[in-house]
Amino acid sequence: MTTHINQDLTYIKIGTLEDFRERMGRVIRLKQKEIVVFRTTDGNLYALDNRSPHRKGGPLAEGIVSGHFVLDPLYDWKIALDSGQVQAPDSGLVQTYPLKVEGESVQMGLSPQQARQLGLAH
Ligand code: FES
Repeated sequence: MTTHINQDLTYIKIGTLEDFRERMGRVIRLKQKEIVVFRTTDGNLYALDNRSPHRKGGPLAEGIVSGHFVLDPLYDWKIALDSGQVQAPDSGLVQTYPLKVEGESVQMGLSPQQARQLGLAH
């Protein structure tokens, strides 16, 4: 798993490893924000905004995980889980979030601005 260790991020616990089943999107609600976490068959965890960037986009949590991609359930867009990049011929970007695992605890990193927006920092 790519781990972005950044001192400036605020990490919040979003669950334990057993909460995340392979290839099943798990929705995490933080105030008005919805994030989806996917666990790939190689054991990696990825967090993204739970919304396809398609202009009529639906929740990515209902997408099909294939390798390190999720296929948008409505329009069949293929989105890289690690970068949030929509694959050609379509284009777009989904916000991704760094995750870290400490023991069994899964934690998600928020930038200072994101943490403030969620009322988690000053
Ligand atoms: S990054 Fe693990 S298989 Fe692609």
